[in-house]
Amino acid sequence: MVRLIVCSVMLLPGIALAQDIERGRQLAARWCAGCHVVDRSSREARADGVPTFPAIAGKPDSTPEHLRAAMNPIHGRMPDLSLSKRDQDDLAAYILSLR
Ligand code: HEC
Repeated sequence: MVRLIVCSVMLLPGIALAQDIERGRQLAARWCAGCHVVDRSSREARADGVPTFPAIAGKPDSTPEHLRAAMNPIHGRMPDLSLSKRDQDDLAAYILSLR
């Protein structure tokens, strides 16, 4: 019984990470796909210059901190999407999973 509990606790971080990426993918499809290419289909920037998510993921300075800051509406041309911290974390995890 004790061993069972220890095992499931050890497994949890891996499961949580997988869920976060999947949740980030769904958020991206809903909130970001209007402007960004959010799947692996293209690394090319669109004609209007909005970077694709694989292109963002490929940049060396794309750390989770940088991505969260970029989702903050104080920056650039991004709209205010009122994302929660968890949304931002999951979206950053999804974007970086495209590396
Ligand atoms: C209304 C259009 C629009 C929507 C919707 C949008 N973005 Fe953006 N995003 C942009 C533009 C335009 C840029 C280019 C940088 C700039 O000019 O601010 C950008 C840049 C970024 C960057 C920075 C890339 C870099 O090189 O630093 C990230 C990260 C990003 N967007 C993530 C997201 C995420 C995540 C979502 C969905 C929650 C989203 N964007 C939704 C327009 C949008």
